[in-house]
Amino acid sequence: MQTVHDAAGLRATIRGWRGQGQTVGFVPTMGNLHEGHHSLIKLARARAERVVASVFVNPTQFGPGEDFERYPRTLAQDQAGLAEMDCDLLFAPDVATIYPFGAAQSVSVHVPGVTDALEGAHRPGHFDGVATVVCKLFNLVQPDVAVFGQKDFQQLKVIERMVRDLALPVKVLQAPTLRATDGLALSSRNQYLSEAERATAPQIHQTLLKMRELLLEKGHARRVIEQAAASTLERAGFQPDYTVIRRAEDLAEPADDERTGLVALVAARLGRTRLIDNLPFD
Ligand code: PAF
Repeated sequence: MQTVHDAAGLRATIRGWRGQGQTVGFVPTMGNLHEGHHSLIKLARARAERVVASVFVNPTQFGPGEDFERYPRTLAQDQAGLAEMDCDLLFAPDVATIYPFGAAQSVSVHVPGVTDALEGAHRPGHFDGVATVVCKLFNLVQPDVAVFGQKDFQQLKVIERMVRDLALPVKVLQAPTLRATDGLALSSRNQYLSEAERATAPQIHQTLLKMRELLLEKGHARRVIEQAAASTLERAGFQPDYTVIRRAEDLAEPADDERTGLVALVAARLGRTRLIDNLPFD
């Protein structure tokens, strides 16, 4: 596997593949890759002849006081994992390559509506940073398909909407969330958890399963379920930001009698770590 750090090197390699009529699949990441990322590479591999991954810890999607500085940077380990997954090319740019005028002076992509609530409300500016960097990466790589994990459900919706609205010629594929055997969704941030917190963390998944059961099997009211989920997590030691059931399509609030096309989403702090997870009901 080749690693390139600059746009010219990236474009030269991809131009070569394009010259041979090959399709390109792309997996953007912030590195510190785990099995969850590897499953995204696997999906890209199945859907395109060449696979490009990027590793870039994007400063514009971190708010003040978030974990940008301490976000784990493990490039050598990531390279080894990607090579094993049969990835063809790793793009690992520096900040100046992605933000030639500086991050604060960058053109910014704002996706309205779907970014207003949930993560958008709790992390102001986060999705502008995500949409901007993904748009730039799409322009650099110009992939046929790009793979995103369902774990970041709202991010997926933001990217889908950006692609459609800006008529970007890329097909967005979603890969299912990978979980540890106890149900905890795999995430680079899990390594911040202490041993005791790690033992508590799977309660997020258990809460999501309970939310689904209470709505679809027991027929409880959505708002009651959402409040009960928040209380359960609080009792377990979490500080929940939200525990909600939304329309999967656009994350809007469903009508009281709506039972199809729904997703439960949770974000909660456990000690210093903020965890997010979700469960599509269909
Ligand atoms: O999901 C991530 O790792 C990041 O938000 C992404 C899509 C790579 C953009 O920086």
